[in-house]
Amino acid sequence: MASPRVMTVDILTLFPGYFSSPMGEGILGRGVEDGRVRIRIFNLRDFAEDRHRTVDDRPFGGGAGMVLKPEPVCRALTWLKGLPGPSPRVILLTPQGAPLKQSRVKELALCHRIILICGRYEGIDERIADFFCDEQISIGDYVLSGGEPAALVFLDALIRLIPEVMGCADSGKEESFEEGLLEYPQYTRPRNFKGHGVPEILFSGDHEKIRVWRRRQALSKTIKRRPDLIEEERLSPENRKILMKLPKKD
Ligand code: ADE
Repeated sequence: MASPRVMTVDILTLFPGYFSSPMGEGILGRGVEDGRVRIRIFNLRDFAEDRHRTVDDRPFGGGAGMVLKPEPVCRALTWLKGLPGPSPRVILLTPQGAPLKQSRVKELALCHRIILICGRYEGIDERIADFFCDEQISIGDYVLSGGEPAALVFLDALIRLIPEVMGCADSGKEESFEEGLLEYPQYTRPRNFKGHGVPEILFSGDHEKIRVWRRRQALSKTIKRRPDLIEEERLSPENRKILMKLPKKD
């Protein structure tokens, strides 16, 4: 039998300790423990060139705050790329990156090796982004104090797509964004909770009816909350048919 694929993620950060607890918990912890993912953390300061281990400097042209210098990042990347193993995809986490989408996470989950660069301070010298990274990713339209929380968010989304890391092989199939839609509502016991019931159809035992009902729910929820997600041309014929039958908004 072929040996299972191991993904390596190298993280470049000024705060290596930030990752210790999350890496021992939940899906990240499980992925690491099972040997499906190898996460290596590198301190950017170790790649500084002076004895003060300087990694930042004032911005040219003036302005508030400090900018991450290009040399330590570049030295780290050169060293990491020289390590044995598959050639890595270099990703910079920055609020200026492309908004992270499930479809992109899926594509990146096929990579064998990824390097994540966590920026800090007011930003990172633009030449790193322009000439030394393969892509830039943002986890949302807000500014974090650094790329570390973004790296954890990205890692979580990535690692749970490795089938053996998911608790149940099926649990990823019908979830939010899988077909460009939000997920249908889920219910569990008790059947009556503080006077609030559960849709009757879920007790019908008719799997086909339940499947279609869930589709309808997913579509109407998406239209209500995230109409921007609906691209009619990308909908399956079945989804398009259900969508046409949904009551129109006034
Ligand atoms: N660093 C700071 N803010 C960020 C964001 N929104 N996404 C990714 N990296 C970031």
